[in-house]
Amino acid sequence: MTIKKVGVLGCGLMGSGIAQVCAVSGYDVVVLEQDQKFLDKGFSGIEKSLAKFAEKGNLKEPVEAVRARLKGVTKPAELADCDIIIEAIIENVEEKKKMFAALDSIVKKDAIFSSNTSSISITEVAAATKRPDKFVGLHFFNPVPLMKLVEVVRTIATSSAAFDAAFDFGKSLGKVPVRTSDKTGFIVNRLLVPYLLDAIRAYEEGVGSIPDIDNAMKLGCGYPMGPFTLLDFVGLDTTYYITHVMFDEFRERRFASPSLLKRMVMAGWYGRKSGKGFYDYTDPNNPVENKF
Ligand code: 3HC
Repeated sequence: MTIKKVGVLGCGLMGSGIAQVCAVSGYDVVVLEQDQKFLDKGFSGIEKSLAKFAEKGNLKEPVEAVRARLKGVTKPAELADCDIIIEAIIENVEEKKKMFAALDSIVKKDAIFSSNTSSISITEVAAATKRPDKFVGLHFFNPVPLMKLVEVVRTIATSSAAFDAAFDFGKSLGKVPVRTSDKTGFIVNRLLVPYLLDAIRAYEEGVGSIPDIDNAMKLGCGYPMGPFTLLDFVGLDTTYYITHVMFDEFRERRFASPSLLKRMVMAGWYGRKSGKGFYDYTDPNNPVENKF
């Protein structure tokens, strides 16, 4: 099947990044949000990111040409002729099911449906539609314009044709797609989440300070960010949510939330986006360790 037009659901951090990458790769993109103000916020992030790429000479065409392929909408009917839908709304299974069930009768029958969820079962969301055979996971990584990976998730119901088309689509975005199955966390979070949670446990047990653990993993293992910087970057609320879904699936301690993470989320400390997490971001260019 030929993909020309992409529908993106949600214009938050992930949705806007996905929309940007699709437009840069030559696709016409329609981004659906509930409210114009969310579209404005997402599109201003896209503007900033495109400007950075253009400044470095990393865009093949003028920013305006990319922007011309991006359209923000607030009515689902505008997605009717999309060839693929990529959902990046709130991580809530009922919301996702509701959204896809509604779109199922609006979007053309042969379009592929996909979700960018990091932990919710693709199989369960797909079952809310009449096209589970055309349903895959397309899991991108933050920041989407820079991170090269996309996990392409196959369920027991996904057809080979839909999976192959989604895989090739991932490649056409300049990403490296990897094949994975619909097991909670897929490849990356299956391995990454226990590591991040263990860093918090190590801190709780007095193994090292937050900056020391960060530096140890950065300099000792060559990771671009230490675990606490990455936790603040991903969002503590997001990580906490993922731990619940993963613990529920596997019932193993390595996926369970440490008490410090839970309390930080209860306190509203979500990391970079709320200005406070394992570091304080009052000056975003100079994060200062938060001592507990
Ligand atoms: N668009 C365009 N350019 C951007 C950008 C964006 N969104 N974000 C950063 N840049 C640019 C910066 O301006 C900078 O440009 P410069 O070199 O001209 O100054 C350049 O990219 C490098 O950025 P930084 O100097 O800020 O920092 P780094 O060199 O550390 O690179 C990073 C940033 C790519 C984010 C790197 O730190 C990294 O790879 N970190 C790990 C990220 C990661 O692990 N992400 C996955 C999270 S897990 C996930 O998403 C799954 C989910 O399910 C939880």
